[in-house]
Amino acid sequence: MSGTPKIVVTRLIPEPALDLLRSAGETWVSPHDRPLTTEELYPAVAGADAVVAMLHDRIDDAFLDAAGPGLRVVANVAVGYDNVDVGACTERGVIFTNTPGVLTEATADIALALILISTRRLGESERLVRSGEPWSWNMFFQLGTGIQGKTLGIVGLGQIGRATARRARALGMKIAYCGRHRVDPAVETELEAAYLPFDELLGAADVLSLHCPLTPQTRHLIDAAALRRMKPGAYLINTTRGPVVDEAALVDALRDGTIAGAGLDVYEQEPIIHPGLFELENAVLLPHLGSATVETRTAMAMLAARNVIAVLRGGEPLTPVGPPAGTTPSSKGASSDVRE
Ligand code: DGY
Repeated sequence: MSGTPKIVVTRLIPEPALDLLRSAGETWVSPHDRPLTTEELYPAVAGADAVVAMLHDRIDDAFLDAAGPGLRVVANVAVGYDNVDVGACTERGVIFTNTPGVLTEATADIALALILISTRRLGESERLVRSGEPWSWNMFFQLGTGIQGKTLGIVGLGQIGRATARRARALGMKIAYCGRHRVDPAVETELEAAYLPFDELLGAADVLSLHCPLTPQTRHLIDAAALRRMKPGAYLINTTRGPVVDEAALVDALRDGTIAGAGLDVYEQEPIIHPGLFELENAVLLPHLGSATVETRTAMAMLAARNVIAVLRGGEPLTPVGPPAGTTPSSKGASSDVRE
């Protein structure tokens, strides 16, 4: 590469990461506090050597065409990368990176918060107090469900699933999980985690927390049939990606008591939310806050910036994402069917 590299940042990121990028090349940052439209994004990335992308940017053939042959690296400021056609990047020799590790604890905190808010009815109770309606303590007022001794079912025992399990164990929950494979026996021992097939996990969990990536195999993993297999008193927690759950089916299940409640941080058509969810007191709705702490967002942006700089300087990125194992370079998404 000759000359000063052109770096494009598709939405404002924390200043320390911008400083780092500016030290490595001519850095353009979107002036808009919203996702860029493709009409804005494509001209912005034309001729870029590096792009720092957000989870709402689609990185596919059209994006790569728009960027042109000089593009060397796309650094997603997210651990999830269902917005990216990794195979298309690989085919063109564009390195793609994500931000694993740095958001594990923050996201597990939100999963735990959703477990507690849902099972103890804290959202509706807070709304009740704010409404100014009269209330008084009595033996049956706003009773929730205790979680001590209950089973937390984890779908996908990766880093965030494990961090959530550790928190739940501290509160006295038992852990069961499903996934494509059993995890390292040392992890099963540490968490005293029982491995169950997906269908059995659905029936065993008092709280089911989703931590699998969104892939073609996990889209609508929790559909009407899966919800019917859950216990009527169970809660569903989703901090991964919205489309893992069939939101319309979930609305029906919450309405008719198929399950007791749901705590959601992510949505199928984010930021649009199924209108039925707004009417339900047994749905807790957060606006995709999993990684939303100052420390975590700074760490994510710094990791993305370091990935960009490593590649621009001819080195190895810190956290590259390869093409999905066992697929041709052009196939989209990773194979991660937890039902296997
Ligand atoms: C991620 O990194 O994938 C998270 O969803 C961002 O909050």
